[in-house]
Amino acid sequence: MSEPVTVLAGKRLLLGVTGSIACYKAAELTSRLTQAGALVDVILTAAAAHFVTPLTFQALSGRPVYTDLWNAPESGAGLPTHIAHVGLAEGADLLMIAPATADSLARLAGGFASDLLGVTALASRAPLLLAPAMDGGMYAHPAVQANVRTLRERGAVVIEPEEGRFASGLSGRGRLPEAQTLLGAARWALGQSTGALRGRQVVVTAGGTREPVDPVRFLGNRSSGRQGYALAQAAIDAGAQVTLISSARGLPAPYGAALIAVETAAQMRDAVLAAVDGADALVMAAAVADFRPETTAAHKIKKTDESGQTLELRLGRTADILAAVRVQRERTSYPRVVVGFAAESQELLANARAKLERKGLDLLAANDISAADAGFEVETNRVVLLDALGHEEPLALMSKAAVAERIIARVAALLG
Ligand code: CTP
Repeated sequence: MSEPVTVLAGKRLLLGVTGSIACYKAAELTSRLTQAGALVDVILTAAAAHFVTPLTFQALSGRPVYTDLWNAPESGAGLPTHIAHVGLAEGADLLMIAPATADSLARLAGGFASDLLGVTALASRAPLLLAPAMDGGMYAHPAVQANVRTLRERGAVVIEPEEGRFASGLSGRGRLPEAQTLLGAARWALGQSTGALRGRQVVVTAGGTREPVDPVRFLGNRSSGRQGYALAQAAIDAGAQVTLISSARGLPAPYGAALIAVETAAQMRDAVLAAVDGADALVMAAAVADFRPETTAAHKIKKTDESGQTLELRLGRTADILAAVRVQRERTSYPRVVVGFAAESQELLANARAKLERKGLDLLAANDISAADAGFEVETNRVVLLDALGHEEPLALMSKAAVAERIIARVAALLG
């Protein structure tokens, strides 16, 4: 069982599942949403029930599954069966249709009310999230595109299907994204509708920078980027528009984040200084190299190039990004809030307090990197939050996602 996700926990999600072979991904989505704490009411169309049975969704959601306008089980709101759709639509925080077939998009665009999903969509005032899925070529058809346009104009969010190969053997754009992406889209949509950071721009940095020695080698550090990615996700959950400037590898960017991939400290500095212009907050979670090789060899350094058994590398200082941000902020007053991290192996609080002042931060998350269960390369973290007013908030050992939520809540409070 995964841990609850705050933006999903206790939320009532309506998941419409329509008749596509991609229905199995909706089953996985139902499972993941439920594990994250959401209450998922699934509406299966008759066509979808040919692919997956209601029992599958009922077992995964632990809740009744709705299939028939005239013969639905009693609704969550305790209403009689024939008006279940009213109760379903009324309390919902989000209506998500995944997969949404070409036929269901046409019916939604046309406002058809001949089945339970159609009626529910008309009765619902919750945000509408659509994940189209259809065989190669169909999605590009002008009829489908016109329906997508209509639905977007009415405020629906349409998740672009992915390119790939279909069960039919054809390929094209029309594949339903994986459950992980759909879950991310649901978080993004919920953030946009109720989050404390709606309309705010937040820049997050993540990962350890890499300073090249030669074309194949670099100086790096043990930062995985997980804490930074969790911060980007927490900011999206809170409804912010997020730019994630990352030197991390192999981590999926949260749905909705604008990812800027960088390698070196210098690239990260340039990207940060450009991104914070007009931004509300900067969260510097990246482990930026303090030193880099003074020169980068144009070709691979060979053992034979060296006369002795040792190789000397001369290192020079990199730019301190937060120091550069501080200078720019004095001129432009952006970003309005700056959060830094302090990785310390001794004198945690004293060093962290000095760092907060030296770097002109509003908030600092101090990390004792000597602990085995916190900091680099692990899923959990233990930090103390220090602010510019002198307050200290020690957080217990918790997941990096939970740490991220606490920090983002403090950012929201600082922005007022
Ligand atoms: N940081 C930065 N630019 C650098 C190095 C670090 O902006 N060249 C940021 C980090 O992203 C972090 C904060 O500064 O938010 C503190 O990083 P840390 O490595 O703990 O401190 P340093 O500034 O490197 O100081 P020291 O080496 O003395 O610990």
